[in-house]
Amino acid sequence: MKTYKIGSIPGDGIGPEVAREGLKVLEVVAELEGFKYELVDYPYSGDYYLKTKELVPDRVIEEWSTLDAVLLGAIGHPDVEPGLVERSVILGLRFGLDMYINLRPIKLYSEQLCPLKDKTPDDIEFVVVRENTEGMYSQIGGHLKKNTPDEVAIVNGIYTWKGCERACRYAFELARKRAAARGSAGRDPVVTLVDKDNAIRPHDVWDRAFARVAQEFPDIGTDHAYVDACCMWMVKNPEWFDVIVTTNLFGDIITDLGAMIQGGMGIAASGNIHPGKTSMFEPIHGSAPKHAGRNVACPLGMISAVSMMLDFLGEEAGAARIEGAVAHLLGSGAIRSADTRSGISTSDMGDMVVAEVRGGAGS
Ligand code: IPM
Ligand code: MG
Repeated sequence: MKTYKIGSIPGDGIGPEVAREGLKVLEVVAELEGFKYELVDYPYSGDYYLKTKELVPDRVIEEWSTLDAVLLGAIGHPDVEPGLVERSVILGLRFGLDMYINLRPIKLYSEQLCPLKDKTPDDIEFVVVRENTEGMYSQIGGHLKKNTPDEVAIVNGIYTWKGCERACRYAFELARKRAAARGSAGRDPVVTLVDKDNAIRPHDVWDRAFARVAQEFPDIGTDHAYVDACCMWMVKNPEWFDVIVTTNLFGDIITDLGAMIQGGMGIAASGNIHPGKTSMFEPIHGSAPKHAGRNVACPLGMISAVSMMLDFLGEEAGAARIEGAVAHLLGSGAIRSADTRSGISTSDMGDMVVAEVRGGAGS
């Protein structure tokens, strides 16, 4: 039996609290499904940086590449320069290990979680494939005459054919897989390319890569939306979306909106994926310092990230157990919100998922 090697980076703020619940659920699922794993802990966080002045060294990025997966809680500390540790840890993983897909499912589990009028779980069930190693996150740029009235700040948005193509291919393959899972009664699969190529002309590399890849998938429909219009449709007609593929920055922005329409930042999970290589799974929320240490943060995003990790590792049954448990707890109203208003503590919510996962055993 294979023993998975899993890195654990609890991080800052509410990160360690939600990570603990994610690991609690992982332990139970491993026992029920009969797989083994070994955890390797990493301290990198804003907190650790304040104590040691240490960011992630290159040798650790190399070490991470020997893991099967990494689970990350949240990074970000109010007393550290904004983005410093996030770039080192989160972008260190994404860029350092070429995790070129950021997969972000947007799924509404219960109508009452949705801030949109008259939208039901049937209407909100799509997934965003965010390109994860290029675009405005390239880190290529800098400042000239910094802190003078003549300052110039430049950032380069990088879009490579390879980067666009592999993101599009992943999206089409995913659309095919989702359609197969829905069966013949389900709606027709469609991949929507979201960019801004009316104003940002170089974005047309995306259009060309998308069109080229689409030729290989005649069974999958195609659509296109500018990112501003996409925001509008996500609120007005979210049922139009099946799989969205988009740039790094646009994917970052629209998935916060996506998290809101599925019930809040507390629920949303993501996978930073390089198929066949080390991949990293995290809730999409941040470290939320104001809620830290109070046992009030919702751990469902983290727990769902564990489910995504198991799916990635090929432990589909374990992944489905967690997904089913979360769906049931939210769908039945046992958990009525994904924020501090739920009235359920972080650890109690983790226990509820554990009980549900166990209850589902053999049924
Ligand atoms: C996310 C976050 C990160 C991003 C930050 C923390 C660098 O917002 O994962 O969505 O911008 O990608
Ligand atoms: Mg974000």
